[in-house]
Amino acid sequence: MIVKLGPCRLELVQGDITQQHVDAIVNAANSRLAGGGGVDGAIHQAGGPEILRETAAKYPEGCATGNAVVSTAGNLPARFIFHAVGPIWKGGRQGEPEQLASACRACLFHAIEHHCDSIAFPAISAGAYGYPLDLAANNLIKTTMDFVRWHQKPALVRFVLFDQGTWGAFARAVEEVVPR
Ligand code: APR
Repeated sequence: MIVKLGPCRLELVQGDITQQHVDAIVNAANSRLAGGGGVDGAIHQAGGPEILRETAAKYPEGCATGNAVVSTAGNLPARFIFHAVGPIWKGGRQGEPEQLASACRACLFHAIEHHCDSIAFPAISAGAYGYPLDLAANNLIKTTMDFVRWHQKPALVRFVLFDQGTWGAFARAVEEVVPR
């Protein structure tokens, strides 16, 4: 699915984020930047141990929930990895929506600062962190569209969804947000 937003493009694809030829990929990290399973595990596995060494040296305190930090991308085709820390779902009344939107915006700001024309996101928080899929999809799509409409950058934002169900939730979110 492709949506034009002025000079920019929003894409939804089903696939593996480690294979994306974009300037920056987003990792769904934890606040210790310690690596883990899910997309975090896949990125460190494919990118190599240099990435963990770099984040440990640059960010010994880790990264707060709702923020994102930058590293190079090791063996991956991307130039950068933005390690975003989404919220753990605790019922939705403990600031989770604001934290998810803020993690997403932090990555988009990093993209602009690092002159990235293209960025790929996974479904941050919608796996091990238990954020309900439809709510995460709506939040990430709306946050991205608002950002891109305002800043007219980055030129390409691609959401890389691992399975058909996740892709479907993001496609419904796009249908809701984009005026037809
Ligand atoms: N490419 C794209 N998406 C992927 C990939 C991949 N290679 N592998 C998994 N996913 C998807 C999952 O299917 C899910 O939809 O990424 C989404 C986010 O799931 P998680 O990786 O579990 O991320 P999150 O919910 O934010 O939990 C973060 O999990 O592994 C730990 O260290 C990580 O503690 C952190 C927590």
